[in-house]
Amino acid sequence: HGARTTGRGLLIVFEGCDRSGKTTHCTRLVSELNARFTAQFMRFPDRSTLVGRMIDAYLKGEKELDDHAIHLLFSTNRWEKVDELKRALENGSHVVVDRYAFSGVAFSAAKDGMSMQWCKQPDRGLPRPDLVCFLDVSPDEAQKRGGFGRERYEKLEFQARVRQNYDHLMDDTWQIIQTDHKTMDQVYAEVMAVVERTMQSQINQKPLTPLWP
Ligand code: TMP
Repeated sequence: HGARTTGRGLLIVFEGCDRSGKTTHCTRLVSELNARFTAQFMRFPDRSTLVGRMIDAYLKGEKELDDHAIHLLFSTNRWEKVDELKRALENGSHVVVDRYAFSGVAFSAAKDGMSMQWCKQPDRGLPRPDLVCFLDVSPDEAQKRGGFGRERYEKLEFQARVRQNYDHLMDDTWQIIQTDHKTMDQVYAEVMAVVERTMQSQINQKPLTPLWP
């Protein structure tokens, strides 16, 4: 069966501030991977579940929730999908995820009185990604892109704090891709290059490990 994977699939996560282009690149990556392997797309928040609908209402400003409560809902929204995620990987499918626990921490910890340490706890034990593709966008550039400002966190000052928090979450599984002043195709080429490199380094099929030991 040619290029099809025999072992587990790769867990590839996209992170970044709002309007960084994650969703566009995730979608394209999934369809191109599907031409050669099996690949699946997931996104967080997944607004289709019961918990996801509460998150959606919160983000749209239709519902108020304590900062701790919404943080735990975002985490619950990942845990309710973890079986599906692990099953897909074990069946040899690559999974491309638009936002993950890193968004959970970076966004919640940008609020007053919310520590990174507290925020990390509920997501401890989720599968650690093989690659985190961080699409970096300056707040000024993000604001110029369409749709910015519609939802709760889409404010310049808040996004700058989120960006700082991301710095504290980066490790050797992260690849930072600068998107300012680049075309979509240029950015995508860089995405594909880091994905190919991750595939090479995963040739020995390292098992999944838990997040945040
Ligand atoms: P989205 O635009 O990717 O659908 O994400 C919606 C917003 O939710 C975005 O501003 C980031 C934020 N968010 C959190 O605050 N915590 C989380 O755990 C996740 C996944 C997203």
